[in-house]
Amino acid sequence: MAKTQVSLTVNGKAVDALVEPRTLLIHFLREQLNLTGPHIGCETTHCGACTVDLNGKSVKSCNVFAVQANGADIRTIEGMANADGTLHALQEGFREMHGLQCGFCTPGMITRAYRLLQENPSPTEDEIRHGIAGNLCRCTGYQNIVKAIQFAADKINAAPMQEAAE
Ligand code: FES
Ligand code: FES
Repeated sequence: MAKTQVSLTVNGKAVDALVEPRTLLIHFLREQLNLTGPHIGCETTHCGACTVDLNGKSVKSCNVFAVQANGADIRTIEGMANADGTLHALQEGFREMHGLQCGFCTPGMITRAYRLLQENPSPTEDEIRHGIAGNLCRCTGYQNIVKAIQFAADKINAAPMQEAAE
């Protein structure tokens, strides 16, 4: 099948590749770029395991063709850590608050929570639950997932105040 050239930015790096028009973004990320953090759970837009951040929105990458991401700026869980290599507050929150069991949903859950906190830095518990409604955890660990996101929000919101106090 004829391939199409795509150019995009993934986790801050420029990527040029040839893709078949039928290739889904999740398959492109996992199989051509070896970014296996985004998982494949359902391939029908239900589970959220494949969630990535695309041009400032949470997107289920099993429902997007790779060619549609031409020119896009994408972040996956592999690009979530801070520039100095330390864990992002969300990653720290999931570790500290036991926000994962098997971990299958975790990359998508953290990537979704990242956008949620960008849009709403101080979400209520209800807003967190609503915000992650498109991401399913088959281990049903929602209580601690919510706590992990609250932990991250508190840490991010406290950071400027700490710097100001120094
Ligand atoms: S694999 Fe994309 S939503 Fe389930
Ligand atoms: S931790 Fe197992 S699916 Fe969420």
